[in-house]
Amino acid sequence: MGAEEQGSQKTEKVAPATGKLGVMVVGMGAVATTMIAGVEAVRKGLAKPIGSLTQMGTIRLGKRTDNTSPLIKDFVPLADLNDIVFTGWDIFKDNVYESASHAAVLDQKTLDLLKPFLETIKPLPAVFDQYYVKRLNGTHVKKGKNKRDLAEQLRADIKAFKKTVDRVVIIWAASTEIFIRPTAVHQSLEAFEKGLDNDDIAIAPSQIYAYAALSEGVPFANGAPNLTVDFPAMVELSKKNAAPICGKDFKTGQTMMKTVLAPAFKARMLGVSGWFSTNILGNRDGEVLDDPESFKTKEESKLGSLDYIFQPELYPDLYKDLYHKIRINYYPPRGDEKEAWDNIDIFGWLGYPMQIKVNFLCRDSILAAPIALDLVLFLDLAKRTPSLCSIGIQEWLSFYLKSPQSAPGLYPEHDLFIQSMKLKNTLRHIMGADLITHLGLEYYD
Ligand SMILES: NC(=O)c1ccc[n+]([C@@H]2O[C@H](COP(=O)([O-])OP(=O)(O)OC[C@H]3O[C@@H](n4cnc5c(N)ncnc54)[C@H](O)[C@@H]3O)[C@@H](O)[C@H]2O)c1
Repeated sequence: MGAEEQGSQKTEKVAPATGKLGVMVVGMGAVATTMIAGVEAVRKGLAKPIGSLTQMGTIRLGKRTDNTSPLIKDFVPLADLNDIVFTGWDIFKDNVYESASHAAVLDQKTLDLLKPFLETIKPLPAVFDQYYVKRLNGTHVKKGKNKRDLAEQLRADIKAFKKTVDRVVIIWAASTEIFIRPTAVHQSLEAFEKGLDNDDIAIAPSQIYAYAALSEGVPFANGAPNLTVDFPAMVELSKKNAAPICGKDFKTGQTMMKTVLAPAFKARMLGVSGWFSTNILGNRDGEVLDDPESFKTKEESKLGSLDYIFQPELYPDLYKDLYHKIRINYYPPRGDEKEAWDNIDIFGWLGYPMQIKVNFLCRDSILAAPIALDLVLFLDLAKRTPSLCSIGIQEWLSFYLKSPQSAPGLYPEHDLFIQSMKLKNTLRHIMGADLITHLGLEYYD
């Protein structure tokens, strides 16, 4: 599209998605391999990309009476699935076929059909330190004289991959690291780079990957709850090198349900006195989260949504005394087939109490894989969009994230439907289409 008038705005020049999109995944475990195998299954016509907004979603343009709702992928220039090339890093040597078989998310029959492709994807040696993920002991790991040296080795990996494709995006789908509070080292790029030289303990491996990506001008998404791109030094680097960022923590099962239900209670002015959430899961993620330090990172990420949605400072009578508790229990028999229970104590007219129970029998990686794919495709779009590529945080992607990053001083939007509207209006905006406000008075003129 050129600079033609369309609707009320000027269309900007979004660069087309020509050539190959290289996707580098940090952590080739359950989520990553389910995404990669899924993309290949879709490419081969074996399955449909269910759960992926970029592949199945439509976007309404103009009035309801216009009946114009193209597929999102036909409206904005997204990379075609056939043009995606995967690689990545892991602390174990297993190729994607072996790792997917170990994760046991997809059935072996499907994996065997895809085996010739999957076994060609072999992880590069990772940057890893057990101090940051206590339950894992990596064997396929880079050695370096300090964190700066490790970052340089990752940059060399990225540079080499760049030579084989046209564009690159990196996504963190590796294990959850221990809880780290931002320190002085995170406050500016200069301080962070000194920290890399001095092996600062507050710089975890995920931050080294993010630094390497952004230094190479490559967009970076954080699918885990770690402190990775959500601090000033990374935002600075992201803007400087026009490398869009987003995070953090894929919004998949229980939190997705929370960010659907809580806005409904608030919209109807129903009070909530308690929300107890518990989970059992038995995959490697569950094992890592069994460590209290990694659990703390996840807990913080999961806790935020209700407070932001309910705004207890605005509605003290309804939400001031809300008791919110989250448990995650490692229970090996379930593997990736997580079960989540929520007990919600609500109250209505004159304070009369009621209860709601939610029992979600989900599949963790089946929910996460399409999110990872969409984030990669949309970050690549952001990189090619003049008005998005240099703004740093891509808040319009908060739809996919449990603990979405937003500009300093701005509270994040957690309501799934506000997030969905924000995402679609961003797409309309960059393509010069009218934004949709749902006012609808024009139908009654
Ligand atoms: N599945 C979901 O629904 C969901 C939702 C939100 C967030 N997440 C997060 O996504 C991440 C991945 O989840 P998963 O179920 O695939 O876990 P997983 O344990 O199956 O895979 C993680 C992989 O990362 C590797 N790894 C760990 N540290 C690494 C490092 N420094 N560099 C390279 N590789 C490293 C591990 O060896 C493993 O193969 C986790 O942090 C999880 O909390 C998952």
